[in-house]
Amino acid sequence: MSPLVSPYKNFDELSFPADHPGRAVTDSYYANRDMMLRTHTSAHEVEMFRRGETRWLLTADVYRRDEIDASHYPVFHQVEGARIFDASPSGMKQVEEDNARVSNILAKSNIVIEDIPHISPTNPVQHNHDPVFSELVAKNLKLSLNNLLLKVFGGVAGISKQEPLRVRWIEAYFPFTSPSFEVEVFFQGKWLEILGCGVIRQATLDTAGVENKIGWAFGLGLERIAMVLFGIPDIRLFWSTDPRFVSQFEQGKITTFQPYSKYPSCFKDVSFWLPQNSEIHENDFCDIVRDTAGDLVEDVKRIDHFVHPKTNRTSLCYRINYRSMDRSLSNEEINHVQSQVASQLVERFEVEIR
Ligand code: PHE
Repeated sequence: MSPLVSPYKNFDELSFPADHPGRAVTDSYYANRDMMLRTHTSAHEVEMFRRGETRWLLTADVYRRDEIDASHYPVFHQVEGARIFDASPSGMKQVEEDNARVSNILAKSNIVIEDIPHISPTNPVQHNHDPVFSELVAKNLKLSLNNLLLKVFGGVAGISKQEPLRVRWIEAYFPFTSPSFEVEVFFQGKWLEILGCGVIRQATLDTAGVENKIGWAFGLGLERIAMVLFGIPDIRLFWSTDPRFVSQFEQGKITTFQPYSKYPSCFKDVSFWLPQNSEIHENDFCDIVRDTAGDLVEDVKRIDHFVHPKTNRTSLCYRINYRSMDRSLSNEEINHVQSQVASQLVERFEVEIR
């Protein structure tokens, strides 16, 4: 499926309100008014249901404008999964049977789950859903995903064989599910956010022309999970073709990444006056840096923000950390890149370099 979708498909079809921040040009990549790069795999939910699929997984590249650091990259991958059942007593009997089967597996496994109610006043059942059906489906969602996490994280480096896998369910909000949840896994001393999910908003199924069904959907980010499972310290490494990286991995096997020498970093600051009464969104600044320096940038931090007391002009200073994944950078090369960043800033935002 093409990563270029209409904003309608990425947002409206999924009940996003007209003023949702994700729609902003600072947060998403637009080709023009009518086309954008999908920001999540949920953009294909309606299409998948329209095809008549009742249980499916979809993996794809997604695009978001964001800051630059070791765990953010403008392209990443998500897996979307969904399952729908007949909204009828016989459909619910199927859910109950499935719930009993998976409960049984989990009861015999080394997993500790911190649960919350399937439905609550702040995480409500949809008005057009039978609360009993919604409860059963939410339970099926939780059991299915706990089982998935057990398969992915159970007995992996950092989670010892004796210690249980700890999973925590949290109330969440998504415009296209209710109730909604986020799931976290305890890994190396920290709770790690893994996925978002919920009971599919009926409007989504209506739009897809699916009648008398109720079901759940989830979406998870692959790089975040892979970074943790394989001990990969920088998201840019996924794009490396360096044999020292690529040769360490084998399909179907989780290994711990053996870092090869990290090349030195090179910090460069750029400070500038903003034109009177204007601002620069941090994502716009980072885009210029990416466009100019590509993957040579490890992270970008704003280190100063100053308003001149007399002139009222604003000055900003950003520190760019340059580091290549596969070679040493020369100061000369980086000075050249840095001066291009500065001239792009002048050209695109009319700033005055200090
Ligand atoms: N699309 C959501 C995100 O990218 C995740 C999600 C998928 C939530 C499906 C609910 C249901 O954050």
